[in-house]
Order: sequence, then C-alpha cells, then structure tokens
Amino acid sequence: MSIRTVITQPFPDQKPGTSGLRKKVPVFQQANYLENFVQSIFDSIAAPQGATLVVGGDGRYYNREAIQIILKMAAANGFGEVLVGRGGILSTPAASCVIRKYDTFGGIILSASHNPGGPKEDFGIKFNSSNGGPATETVTDAIFAKTKSIATYRILDAADISLDELGETTLGAMKVKVIDPVTDYADLMASLFDFNAISALLKSGFRIKFDAMHAVNGPYAHEILEHRLGAAAGSVMNGVPLEDFGGGHPDPNLTYAHDLVEIMYGDDAPDFGAASDGDGDRNMVLGKHFFVTPSDSLALLAANATSAPGYKKGLAGIARSMPTSAAADRVAKALNIPCYETPTGWKFFGNLMDAGKVTLCGEESFGTGSDHVREKDGLWAVLFWLNILAVRKQSVEAIVLEHWAKFGRNFYSRYDYEGLPTEAANGVMQLLRDSFTILTGKTFGKYTVQTCDDFSYTDPVDGSVSKNQGVRILFSDGSRIIYRLSGTGTEGATLRVYLEAYEADASQHHLDAQVALKDLIDIALDISELVKRTGRERPTVIT
Ligand code: G1P
Ligand code: ZN
Repeated sequence: MSIRTVITQPFPDQKPGTSGLRKKVPVFQQANYLENFVQSIFDSIAAPQGATLVVGGDGRYYNREAIQIILKMAAANGFGEVLVGRGGILSTPAASCVIRKYDTFGGIILSASHNPGGPKEDFGIKFNSSNGGPATETVTDAIFAKTKSIATYRILDAADISLDELGETTLGAMKVKVIDPVTDYADLMASLFDFNAISALLKSGFRIKFDAMHAVNGPYAHEILEHRLGAAAGSVMNGVPLEDFGGGHPDPNLTYAHDLVEIMYGDDAPDFGAASDGDGDRNMVLGKHFFVTPSDSLALLAANATSAPGYKKGLAGIARSMPTSAAADRVAKALNIPCYETPTGWKFFGNLMDAGKVTLCGEESFGTGSDHVREKDGLWAVLFWLNILAVRKQSVEAIVLEHWAKFGRNFYSRYDYEGLPTEAANGVMQLLRDSFTILTGKTFGKYTVQTCDDFSYTDPVDGSVSKNQGVRILFSDGSRIIYRLSGTGTEGATLRVYLEAYEADASQHHLDAQVALKDLIDIALDISELVKRTGRERPTVIT
C-alpha cells in the first residue's frame, strides 16, 4: 500500500455554511470534489501525527463511498486511528458523544440533516472539534481558504475495507476501529435519565409511537425505546434507515412527519408521539391529539429538569435562539437563572456550554439539547419527555396546560416561504430595515410597535459580534414578529417569518395558535409587502 499524491484543481463552490458543506450528490460525485474538501479540512485543523478521528454519517446515499475515501485520506495524512460506526452510521448527536467520550481530536460527520437523500438529492460533510461541536468559524473559514488554493491531496492506494463487522483492521499504518454506533450513545442516555421509571411507565400501558422517518435514529430508537426500556414492539415506526429515507423529507414537523401526525390525531392515538430527522438531532413531540411547539418544549424541559437524574442539581442557565419564543425566558426568571438569546444556529450554544454558562438550549426549529453533547439531540429530548411523564404521571396535554396556567402562553408560529427569487426576498428585508423609524410607535389594533431592530449578538464568552441576524418588530405587550433569511436553504432564498403573541389569561390558552395569531400575521404581511413582492399568497410550510 502506498500513499499517492494526486494533482487537483480547486472548485469555486466549497464554502461551508453553518452546518458544513451541503451540495447535491452529483456535485460530490465529481472527480476530486470530496477529496479536495477533506484535504482542506486536514490541512486546516493541524491534527498531531497519530491523532484519533471519528467518522460516521446518517446513512444517506453516498455515505459509504464517502467514508471509504475519508478513511484512505486519513491514513495518508498521518492519523493513527479512526473510530467509525458500523455500516458507516453515526447519528450527529452520537458522533458528538463518541468524539467526547474517547477524547479524540475530532470527527467528520456526513449528513444533510433533514434534507432529502438519494442519487439526485442532498449530501453534506462537516468537521466537529474535540469538544464534540461543529468547528468554529475561524476553522471553517480556514477550510474554505484552503479549498480555493488546493493543488494536491494525499490518499492511500488501498482496497475498500468492510464497515459491516465490529472490530479492528488496519489501513496502512492507521488503525480502523468499527464500533457499534448505538452503544455509547445509549449508555450516555441511561446515565442521564431514569430508565427504571420510564420502563415502569411503558409497562403500565402507556403507549408511545416514535417515527424515525426511515432515517438514522431507527437503530437508536429500537435499542433504547424497545430493547432497553421495553416499549411494545411496533412503538418505533419507519425504523429501517434507507439511503433515500423512503423518498420522504426527513424533517420532523407537522407537514413532513404526516404518518405520525395522522396516528397521533387518530381515534386510537397513543399517549405520546415523537419523531426525529435525517441525522437524529431534531425532534418533534406530540401528545394525544396535541402538538407541543419546540419553544414550549424547551420551556417545559427547563421547568421540569430536576425530575431527570442527569439534571437533578438544576440548570446553570438556558439559551434559546432569537426567533425561539420567550417561553423559556419566563422559566429562567422563575428559576432565577440566566437566559441567553443567541443568533440562529447551534454553534452559538457551544461557547456558552463550554464555559459552563448554560445547561439546556433550544431552537424553534425542532432542536433541543444540553451540555451532554455539543449538538442538538432528538432522542435525548424524547427521553427527557418520557422521564417527565413517568414522574408526573399526567398526559402531555395536562402538563402543557398546567405550564401555561403558571407561566402564561406564548402563542407561536413560523411561516416559511421557500425557493423565492433572491431579489424578492432581499427586497422584503430591505423594505423592513428602511421602515424602522416609520413603524416605531405605530399602533395596529391592539398592538403597538415598541422598537424595531436587526438583531446583533455579542458572544459573552469570546466577545465576537454577529450582526444582521434577523429583523425584529417588538410590540409593547411582548409580542414579536421576526423576519430572517435562511442560511441553509439550497434553492433560491427562503424567507422565514416568526410570530409570537404572549397571553397571560388562561381562559384563552385553548385557542388555536393560527387563530390567536391572526392579527399579527396580517400585520406581518402588510408591513413587509410580502405577497406583492414575492407573488406568494401562502407560505410553503407553516409550523
Ligand atoms: C435552520 C433552522 C435553524 C437551525 C439550522 C440547522 O436554519 O432555522 O434553527 O439551526 O436550520 O439545523 P435556517 O435555514 O433558518 O438558517
Ligand atoms: Zn439534523
């Protein structure tokens, strides 16, 4: 086996976004495309000779091929050992767990999260550092810079190795250890939650349904929910991971997780339902005929955190992304702990967690997590809920209603306008920015605009400033309308409009969010000229 140095040309489009490099599979299949990016990672991270790397992905189309290339390149670039999940599988939170548990130098995670998979669909790659979290912007900027000047990459000339049996093999001088993708993660979950109490709940006739959406969490859910906790066989649906996710869109929301939603709103609905996304880091939680918004879920987990053994000592603080509802802020206030408002994207939470400032964090986009790893974690949120349900012995709906009665309800909804012409989307944002002065103090029915701004964040740990993170129209009663452009969309521009109205009066808490938010929605459309400028009468997705 010899190391080959291959001459290559830069590709102009390898700028990693907040979640790594995401492109269609045929783009990644171009000769040298993946190789260039992987070499650029290795050239940027300065791993010492003999370092250990973790590699795994969500099993989507091209996962296996990519892993073979990465292994041969790691061997040619001086890594001493690679831990790879069997079959090339590691959910994103499990990869974060393995990176941390074995004190490795970092890991390469292959995923395009909740985006569809298949020969013509999405693929992605990112580097996570030794803390288990996505590389900092300094590192991703360095990787991008390397991709622009790359001239050669190094790869071992070797046959593919089998990823399907546990155990050790070698690739040149490098050890490859195929590990069970589930065990370390499942053990971590067992250390955080009261598995005996959850198990007793499940044996008492409490029925659950977990929709793995034919994505990576299938094997994790089978092992943890059915085998370790004893949920009835069949509690996990769509549990066999498929390279194309069964043709579905593996995003756990009311639109895309429709199989589960039908069951949870059906005649014989189970007591608890949940789903997770392509790479297992997002979650959706449902009760019988009842949907829990991610913002409420974060607030509820925070308010009930001490019922889980891993959080018995209480929380250091909570963090939420700016567009996430302020429900968690109210809990933080009651617990007398800080609540941080960060820009959208998980990376902002990492600094706060590493500094010990927060324990729980969450985003309205179905992401919740804690400092147990440095990624959001879908199954972790499901187990946290089950732990709370096991302790409180009430229905999901009863727990949420009690929470609202105590803290008030933050009615919440997000409207997504996908695939817009970039100019139209930018036009809406610019119009809003130009309207701050006119809007301030203006009254619309019962809503008066208190202030408007473009959200800016100063990281309390490293002092870095992130500007232009979304336009906020803030009303005097705490209601908010927020507009921002997606940083992850792959076609055209995606405009997101976030609506939030606070209601203290418990007699109003039963209202449907769309009804309660009707006036705010009208204001949001009116002041942005959204329909006129985009030609869209309706959003693509409402959550
Ligand atoms: C979206 C979500 C955001 C999340 C990100 C990665 O980003 O809104 O909360 O962190 O996906 O999962 P966006 O497309 O809005 O930039
Ligand atoms: Zn994801």
